[in-house]
Amino acid sequence: MTDKYAVIGHPISHSKSPLIHKEFARQTEQDLEYSAIEVPVEELESSLSQLRDILKLKGINITVPFKEQAWQLVQNQSTRAKRAGAINTLVFNDDGSMFGDNTDGVGLCRDLTVNNGIELRGKRILLLGAGGAARGVIEPLLSYDPVELFVANRTASKAHALADLFSDLGHIRGGGFEDIKPQFDVVINATAASLQGEVPPLPDDLLSDNAACYDMMYSDSDTAFISWARQHGAAQAVDGLGMLIEQAAEAFRIWRGVKPDTRSVIELIRHQASD
Ligand code: ATR
Repeated sequence: MTDKYAVIGHPISHSKSPLIHKEFARQTEQDLEYSAIEVPVEELESSLSQLRDILKLKGINITVPFKEQAWQLVQNQSTRAKRAGAINTLVFNDDGSMFGDNTDGVGLCRDLTVNNGIELRGKRILLLGAGGAARGVIEPLLSYDPVELFVANRTASKAHALADLFSDLGHIRGGGFEDIKPQFDVVINATAASLQGEVPPLPDDLLSDNAACYDMMYSDSDTAFISWARQHGAAQAVDGLGMLIEQAAEAFRIWRGVKPDTRSVIELIRHQASD
């Protein structure tokens, strides 16, 4: 019988995950189906049971707005998911148990380092935002041993709290946007500002020579932050499409035990967007 998977969210109709996983399955010759399922906002817990017991799915990806709630509901989870405070990948085991993981952070770091050749070790990294998206990527970023990871947020207290939460893992500090001390080698936007076409208030001399800017958001045209980066002399300005595909590849590996090639899928989707 063909194994079934899905991504759940609200809304979900614009998700690229079914296309991405279909490509992975074709490429690795895995027999699986992957669909997008919209779940009512208040009904995550009952929906998880239905997906497992009635639809007989083998696993799901979880996206906005359910990642944090899933983290609270699923007891059995990876160390990185525990730290991330969010789950984006769920495995439904044959014995009925669930296992939660978070592949967003590893997806970001692979896209930065492998796909875009951006060095993190020994660098000054600025992370903008202190919500769920920022929290999910801090542990993997610190694993590269940057000289500093500064978390800057509109609400400074949330950045301080995140820095405290991860202080045992490396050189991390938090503050408001006014506390940002240039210059940085890598600037990552994890705020929701791009959704409103806005950019956090950043110093004009923020970027070092050869700096790389990364927007965790992805859009067919330049996001506000990507435009800001180009205007302020970034050597590289990269959006979050690669992260989206890398986090999916890691979920696919967890479910199927094979790692798909991501580069061809990034090219495919980039090409479709420009058509
Ligand atoms: P997500 O899961 O996407 O991180 P979230 O937890 O609601 O969503 O967090 C949104 C983040 O974007 C927060 O860091 C938020 O800043 P505050 O903590 O001060 O609310 C940030 N954000 C949202 N809109 C913003 C804007 N227009 N300018 C700057 N930061 C913004």
